[in-house]
Amino acid sequence: MKRRSCKKMFSSNDYFINSWLLSITTTIMIFCNLCDAYKENNGSFPEGFMFGAATSAYQIEGAWNEDGKGENIWDHFIHENPMRIVNNDNADEACDSYHKYKEDVSLAASLGFSVYRISISWTRILPTGYMGTINEVGLKYYEDLIDEIVKHNMKAVVTLYHFDLPQQLQKDFGGWTNPLLIDIFVNYSRIVIERLENVDYWITVNEPRIICNYGYGSGESAPGLKYQEFECTKVVIMSHAAVYRMYKNEFPNRKAKMAINLDCEWFEPKTNSFEDIAAAERILEFQIGIFAHPILKGGWPKVVEDRMEQKRLMENSPVSQLPKWTEYEIEFINGTFDFLGVNHYFTNYAENDFENNVGKSRSEMNAGVLITTDPSWDKNSLGRTVTTWGTRKLFKWLKETYNNPEIFICEYGYSDNGTTLEDNERIRFSRMYLSAFHDAIYKDGVSIFGAMTWSLIDNFEWTSGYSAHFGLFYIDQNDPNKTRIRKKSAHFFKKLAATGRIPEDLHT
Ligand code: BGC
Repeated sequence: MKRRSCKKMFSSNDYFINSWLLSITTTIMIFCNLCDAYKENNGSFPEGFMFGAATSAYQIEGAWNEDGKGENIWDHFIHENPMRIVNNDNADEACDSYHKYKEDVSLAASLGFSVYRISISWTRILPTGYMGTINEVGLKYYEDLIDEIVKHNMKAVVTLYHFDLPQQLQKDFGGWTNPLLIDIFVNYSRIVIERLENVDYWITVNEPRIICNYGYGSGESAPGLKYQEFECTKVVIMSHAAVYRMYKNEFPNRKAKMAINLDCEWFEPKTNSFEDIAAAERILEFQIGIFAHPILKGGWPKVVEDRMEQKRLMENSPVSQLPKWTEYEIEFINGTFDFLGVNHYFTNYAENDFENNVGKSRSEMNAGVLITTDPSWDKNSLGRTVTTWGTRKLFKWLKETYNNPEIFICEYGYSDNGTTLEDNERIRFSRMYLSAFHDAIYKDGVSIFGAMTWSLIDNFEWTSGYSAHFGLFYIDQNDPNKTRIRKKSAHFFKKLAATGRIPEDLHT
C-alpha cells in the first residue's frame, strides 16, 4: 500500500516535472525561433563575417614590362592581335595599381572592409616562369603590398594564379595542358609562400573552368588554343593539389588557409521534364563538379563519366576525351581544401540538347546541354543574367553535394557601362545577392564565412577591355592620373561593413 502511494506520488511529481520541462523547452524554442526570425529579418550577417573586395594583378596593375616583369600569355595574346579586345584596349597601364597600390589599399580600408583580395603576377617574380632568375623587385612589391593591407587592419586573400601564365611556359610546352607544369607551379608557389608570411587566405587557382574552357577549349581567351579543355582540367587540378600538399608539408606552422576558387553559376531546368532536370544537373557537374568532385569527394563526378562515355560511343571514338585518374592521383587530390572559394554571378536555364553543337560553349557541347535565358531577366552590361533567385539554390546545392564545406565567396558583382557615379543598379543587385547569401546562411544552414565583391575599382575586363565597369570606384581610362572616384555603391558597401547588415537606406 505504502509502496503504491509512493509510486503514485512519484508519478504525479513526474507529471509535474515533465510538464514544467515541456513548458521551459517550448519557451526556449519559441525564443530561439524568434531570435532566428529576428536575425533573418534584421538582415544581420553572423558575427565575424568578412566583407571585402577582390581584384587581380593583370586587371589592375599595369606596368606590364617594368622592374623586370616578364611577358605573360595575356600580354602576348593582346600585343599579337589588339583586335581581340573590345576597342583595342590593353592592360599595359591598366589602373596603374603597381604604382598606386597604397592608395588602393587605403580605399578598401576606407570602406571598413576586413578583407582585400589580390593576385600575384607570376612573371613579376619569375620572368620566364622557371626557377632560373628570381626577380627580387617583384617579390618585394608583393611583400610591401601585403604589409600595407595588414597595416590597414585587413586580412590579405592572395591568389597564386589568376589567368596570367608566363608566356615562356606556354611557348615551350603548351602551358596548362602539359603535366610538366605541375612541378613548375609548385616551385613558383613555394617561392611566393615562403616570402609572403602575412597572408591569411591562399587561393591556388582562380576559376579553372574559365582557364580551360576559354583559354584551351574555345580559344576566346589567352592563350587562344582549342579543344584541349580536358587535358588542361586534369593538369590544373593536379597543380592545385600539389601546391596544397607542398604547403601543408613544408609550412606546417603557417595559419593561413588554402583553397581553389571555382566559378559557380546556377542552372535551372528549362521545363519540368525529366530530360531538362537531368540536363541542369549535368551542366552543374560539368562546370562545377568536374573540379569540385575530385577535390572535395574524390574522382570525376559519375554524371560526367557517363556522359563522356556516351559521347565516345556516339562519336565512335576509341578513347574518351575525359582523362583517367590513377588510384594514387585520386587519393592525392581528395581533401586538398581548407574551404571552398566560390565566385558567383548568374543563373541560366539548362535544356537537354544532345545533338546541336552550333554556337555553343565547350561545356554545353560536352554536357549535351543548351544554356538559355529569358528575355525578361535582368542582365548586366555584359549581357550576363543577374537573376539572384538562383543564388540561394546554388549554395544549397553546394552544401548538399559537398557535405556542407566552409565557403568563402571570393567574387560577386555587377557591371555597368560606366556612365554614372549614381550606380543605383549596382546597389540594387548587390542588395539582392547579399540577401540571397543571408538566406542561404540562416534558412538553409550554408556555411558562408565571407563575401568579397568584384571589384574595388573599375578595371581591365579581359576581352571586354574597359567597356565593362565593375568597380566601387570609377576610373576614366583617358585620365593619365587614373584618378579613383567614389561611386554611390561605395557608400552602400561602407555601411554594410560598418553594421554587418544590408543597408536599408540608399534605396534605388
Ligand atoms: C574573374 C574576374 C572577372 C570577373 C568579372 C571572374 O570570372 O575572376 O577576373 O573580371 O569574373 O567578369
